[in-house]
Amino acid sequence: MFYAFVSKAAQLIPAPIVRKCRLYKLAGLFLNKAEEELIFNEVFVRKLKRNEHKVLEYWKKYRYLDEIQLRCNITEDSKVLDVGCGISTVLPYVKGERFGIDPLADEFWNIYEYPKDISIGKGFGENIPFPDKYFDVVFCSNALDHVEAPENTVAEIHRVLKAEGHFVLTVELFEAKIKRDPAHPYAFTKNDVCSLLEGRFQIIFEAESPWIGLRGYLDGSRKAHNKELIMLSQKV
Ligand SMILES: C[S@@+](CC[C@H](N)C(=O)[O-])C[C@H]1O[C@@H](n2cnc3c(N)ncnc32)[C@H](O)[C@@H]1O
Repeated sequence: MFYAFVSKAAQLIPAPIVRKCRLYKLAGLFLNKAEEELIFNEVFVRKLKRNEHKVLEYWKKYRYLDEIQLRCNITEDSKVLDVGCGISTVLPYVKGERFGIDPLADEFWNIYEYPKDISIGKGFGENIPFPDKYFDVVFCSNALDHVEAPENTVAEIHRVLKAEGHFVLTVELFEAKIKRDPAHPYAFTKNDVCSLLEGRFQIIFEAESPWIGLRGYLDGSRKAHNKELIMLSQKV
């Protein structure tokens, strides 16, 4: 009942207002993590249907997709995984044999039809359901601060990557640790991110963009208080 009410309200309130008034924090008092993630994505699907091209636009403009693809040399033969792929996955815009995992994949299939040539299934970053050294490239965009155990997730991404495979991470940055909401158990500083990668990955490209978020971008928002870190690293 409360879920249905919040879901309806979330459809109506523009993303900048949701963020400014910290409505996710408020909703988080009543919803669990999965419910919060699902509501976000139900809203997202509605907006996406009218603006699908804007996802690629966002990836190119704010997440440096062209630069990343060049450096990773993704080809039709590459195996590519997106961890915490959600609905706004980058996979339709890259070449190769493509896989996405998300704990809510089954629920997402009920509200969104992913492209047929991409395999999307249920899975957690902390326990990636693929063998060692399987992928050439692993994306994890706007998802590392959603997982329960980021260290295990980074270790798993390292495990499933081939030698010298590439890890594409995008994550919202904070100046200091803060308590967020059930969907976001973590608030990372840049140092936190570097510590998570240390010893496993060598950074080869990084950039910072205004943290708009895809839903915010579809809503027309272009300004942001925080930054999004875009980091491309290579397995060592
Ligand atoms: C904001 S969405 C990101 C979607 C997409 N990757 C993007 O770039 O916009 C965060 C996703 O992380 C997923 N998630 C939450 N916990 C996770 C976990 N333990 N392992 C993998 N993904 C998780 C959520 O279900 C949600 O779909």
